[in-house]
Amino acid sequence: MSRLLVTGGAGFIGSNFVHYWLDQYPDDLVVVVDALTYAGNLENLAQVQSNPNYRFEHCDINETEKMQTLLRDEAIDVIVNFAAESHVDRSIEGPDAFITANILGTHSLLKAARQVWLIEGANPDNHRFHHVSTDEVYGSLESEEPAFSEQTAYAPNSPYSASKAASDFLVRAYHHTYGMDVTTSNCSNNYGPYHFPEKLIPLVITNILHGKALPIYGDGKNIRDWLYVEDHARGIDLTIKKGRAGETYNIGGWNEWTNIDIVKLVCQLMDKRFASDELLSKRFPECPAAAGLQSETLIEFVRDRAGHDFRYAIDASYSNRELGYEPKVTFEEGIEKTLDWYLSNESWWRAVMDGSYQAWIETNYKAA
Ligand code: NAD
Ligand code: DAU
Repeated sequence: MSRLLVTGGAGFIGSNFVHYWLDQYPDDLVVVVDALTYAGNLENLAQVQSNPNYRFEHCDINETEKMQTLLRDEAIDVIVNFAAESHVDRSIEGPDAFITANILGTHSLLKAARQVWLIEGANPDNHRFHHVSTDEVYGSLESEEPAFSEQTAYAPNSPYSASKAASDFLVRAYHHTYGMDVTTSNCSNNYGPYHFPEKLIPLVITNILHGKALPIYGDGKNIRDWLYVEDHARGIDLTIKKGRAGETYNIGGWNEWTNIDIVKLVCQLMDKRFASDELLSKRFPECPAAAGLQSETLIEFVRDRAGHDFRYAIDASYSNRELGYEPKVTFEEGIEKTLDWYLSNESWWRAVMDGSYQAWIETNYKAA
């Protein structure tokens, strides 16, 4: 039985991971730590709220002493570090929060783990610090270049990816210098339930339903490698259970799409749904499909993202050989499941988008 501390567990991937883990390992303890920034949402964890093996702690990973107390009191043996500022556009507007959460925050957590597990000796031999990182640390690929492997040199281009790269190096250093048992996974673009609607796929879904413009940066030819979020959770599970201390593993979808193609696909799938379900036109009268028009008419090419990386692609063959990792959810299946989720959880994204959820957090969690 494991006792996990999951940081950033109220965010998109963290909350999907918590659901996955408690489903797979119902006897394990999962303690979620989350600062509940704009991206953290307790609704994402509503389904596990009454699970006796789940607890939630509202705090920042930069609160090192609190982290130490949790590690001691809950006898934690596995840390999974998702907590981060994660949106590239926000890092371009204001990098400071990314340095604080991603670099200082990861370091604070490493210090707490070293203090409790190694210095106090609470768990010197049977612990694991798993750090969740991104393919963006490897920089950008040209069309014909081979996908990123674990040997690709780091070349981060945005303040976000630079902050993630720095955190990866700190994790590596705590293994080499202090002997901490660490692993890192570098994953490609995730999609699925609870994805905050500032990111491309959920933004496109919700804008289509509102009849709002679908902004495509630049010429829309940039390429991303998309992975259904549950497959990422499984990849992390395999890394924690089978990964070697000090090692890094790439997790990806073998699923490259240009932005324009993925946006057109989502438009077409949505139009099909409206054509076969009259109720959707009643629920979302502003959607072009409600008037028999194509959702693609909403596409607008806009100014490019500064320093926009052209292409990311993950070579996941090492994880496949070493851990038995491979994505299970096909893109066709995953994107339909994602549309289902957003159509069935209108109140979730409306509360996120109209600010009422954030107002509730301010009143209930931040007033003091
Ligand atoms: P997210 O923005 O949806 O969630 C981040 C969570 O971390 C939020 O709940 C937020 O409240 C919390 N958080 C932020 N700063 C914190 C702090 N200082 N202390 C405690 N909690 C804090 O992000 P996500 O998309 O779920 O990404 C999770 C992790 O996975 C990040 O580390 C990100 O770099 C990495 N990642 C994301 C993707 C992707 O496609 N989204 C792909 C690869 C890797
Ligand atoms: O590759 C992994 C990374 O994927 C993670 O580390 C990040 O946390 C995650 O946010 C994601 O980063 P991207 O920048 O790739 O994701 P985003 O959804 O912001 O954008 C995907 C692509 O779509 C990118 O090329 C920019 C483009 N885009 C995005 C938005 C929000 C648009 O063209 N229009 C938009 O409105």
